[in-house]
Amino acid sequence: MRTVHVPASVPYDVEIGPGLLPSLGGVLRQSCPGAGRYVLVTDSTVAPLWAAAAQKGLDDRGLAGDIFVLPAGEESKTAARLTEILNFAAARGLTRSDALVALGGGMVGDITGLAAAVYMRGIRYVQVPTTLLAAVDSSVGGKTAVDLPAGKNLMGAFWQPRHVLCDTDALTTLPEADFASGCAEVIKTALLFDEDLFSLLEREGPDFPLEEVIARCVIHKRDVVAEDERDTGRRALLNLGHTLGHAVEAESGYTLSHGEAVAIGMATVCRAAAAYGFCAAALPGRVEALLKRFGLPARAGVPLDTLMGRMLSDKKRSGNMVSVIVPEDIGRCDTRPMDRAALYDFMKAGI
Ligand code: GLY
Repeated sequence: MRTVHVPASVPYDVEIGPGLLPSLGGVLRQSCPGAGRYVLVTDSTVAPLWAAAAQKGLDDRGLAGDIFVLPAGEESKTAARLTEILNFAAARGLTRSDALVALGGGMVGDITGLAAAVYMRGIRYVQVPTTLLAAVDSSVGGKTAVDLPAGKNLMGAFWQPRHVLCDTDALTTLPEADFASGCAEVIKTALLFDEDLFSLLEREGPDFPLEEVIARCVIHKRDVVAEDERDTGRRALLNLGHTLGHAVEAESGYTLSHGEAVAIGMATVCRAAAAYGFCAAALPGRVEALLKRFGLPARAGVPLDTLMGRMLSDKKRSGNMVSVIVPEDIGRCDTRPMDRAALYDFMKAGI
């Protein structure tokens, strides 16, 4: 088991390892002292697999609570579902000293975190990620949100969890496509910060040592969050591949997974960066080969013109400028603000 401490405005630990779920009750007691009740939020895929074990872990430590099950899928990440969770918590008599538990992937973690941020003006919550994507990215750092019709994550808050409990056993039951989707975020982290990790992924392929790789990704994320918790500077680097990625994901009607879309976004900016001389000509080939090894796509297959509107409505835009994260080497990237014309020319060189 590995523990990574996150020194955010509310400091907390991320525990990573097999067989951790039964300790959830002890974790909640320790990280949320005084809590007597909980609402555990999960989804219809995760509930039959892990909810009973999680609830037993909580009940064994004398906590009383209820489970709220969302339909699985990004479609549940709405303000309407958020209100349902809040009403459920209120009906069960959750008070300000009680806590929420998010048991699931990114959708569950994001909506539960936002419910915790707004219920009675803010209560505590614990993240229990059950997907690789949630383990290496969304469960850490306190970004909470639901989607609006106008776009992903447009309603949200920064609200840090009190603990992240990542039981790697839960990740072993993931469908292949979900695992590959999480791998895109792992590859993103390696390309951003860690050439050694990139080489390890090249060497080991999808059989990489799970606990070690998750811990390395969490350490990189921790370092970014510690420096820029509210996303006004360095944290923007974590959007590598996301400007084009979000656009192709939305354009596909969400038939592409987030990880597949990020993979396409990363490969595109790598090709563009090489064409502009921002990185070595060989870099895109190395990145594409790794994506292929993990069963991830590298080409959008959609004309750039159909993606431009979506890229320009990205919430990361500031005035007329969109910040694009551009690879300079494996393990080193930079932020380059671009206006509409510059963004078009740059993406055209990579698409
Ligand atoms: N997932 C990007 C971030 O946490 O900033």
